[in-house]
Amino acid sequence: MYGHDFPGPDDGPADGLLEQVEAAEVALRAAADRGRPGVADGPAADTDPQHYFTALIEADQKIEPRDWMPDAYRKTLIRQIAQHAHSEIIGMQPEGNWISRAPSLGRKAILLAKVQDEAGHGLYLYAAAETLGVTRDELVELLLTGRQKYSSIFNYPTLGWADVGAIGWLVDGAAIVNQVPLCRCSYGPYARAMIRVCKEESFHQRQGYEILHRLASGTPAQRAMAQDAVDRWWYPSLAMFGPPDTDSTHSQQSMAWKIKRFSNDDLRQRFVDMCVQQAGVLDLRLPDPDLRWNEQRQAYDYTQPDYAELMRVISGDGPCNRQRIDHRRRAHADGSWVREAAAAYTAKRQREDRPAVAA
Ligand SMILES: [Fe+2]
Ligand SMILES: [Fe+2]
Repeated sequence: MYGHDFPGPDDGPADGLLEQVEAAEVALRAAADRGRPGVADGPAADTDPQHYFTALIEADQKIEPRDWMPDAYRKTLIRQIAQHAHSEIIGMQPEGNWISRAPSLGRKAILLAKVQDEAGHGLYLYAAAETLGVTRDELVELLLTGRQKYSSIFNYPTLGWADVGAIGWLVDGAAIVNQVPLCRCSYGPYARAMIRVCKEESFHQRQGYEILHRLASGTPAQRAMAQDAVDRWWYPSLAMFGPPDTDSTHSQQSMAWKIKRFSNDDLRQRFVDMCVQQAGVLDLRLPDPDLRWNEQRQAYDYTQPDYAELMRVISGDGPCNRQRIDHRRRAHADGSWVREAAAAYTAKRQREDRPAVAA
């Protein structure tokens, strides 16, 4: 099953998330070994850059920063990678809220590691975006002034400890379903960043699932907490896949460029199918009375999320939008002395003709 991190007895060995990520990594290396069109024994290089770009994409080769690319491809990637980076950084807040209130030292250490991973994901992604000719400062400015968005999901509040479990299971789970195909994205730096990110996301999903599993098999009060968190996070997680295909503005061109490999609705369906089985193991209910197996489609029928709500949250009117961006602005201002000190140190090393970081 796609993006399935808990293969059942009927699933083959290639169905787990990590197997899919590894397969993408092998494909990436194989493409590099095959050589690019016009190099070594590939077809002759075309002098028209647009033709060469198309030939690289058709040959499932990666576009690298040194390559010519259409302006719209570059802009699409900058927008997508930047929004992804912003989401990782803003996404630290809902869970960061629970680090000081985790129920044990072990839980605190795990959550701390998870939130720190998200910071790392943001950094890989800003670095990937920088290869397209923007600076991290520019992108951060676009986030702080509201001109670039981040995922709507992080504008919902974390009301209890069980929310940390529901976020790991559902939010990181939805992120995985979205991101595994990006390991095969046509832009090399993004694809390579995604391979590492997905390996870490697998751990995030498992930690959330394990929290819910413990709560769901605990006292009646703990079970109720787990169910309440799943009830609140289910539909916002479905909305993470974006508007339905009929309203999705960027999809077709992104598919042609092999940035995107599957439509929003396809990925959402895969996520639903994956979650139903996992909810069964947890013995928790997904809050959808119309969720049922459709024999003909070989998939679950389900209730769509409220897309009007998604649009409201994206445009700034979610429960925590203001709080999240205020917090990020404050954190950015508080960190200015670190950036200044790092820049001064680098300048000093350059004056002394030494590398910025000692070997
Ligand atoms: Fe992440
Ligand atoms: Fe994550």
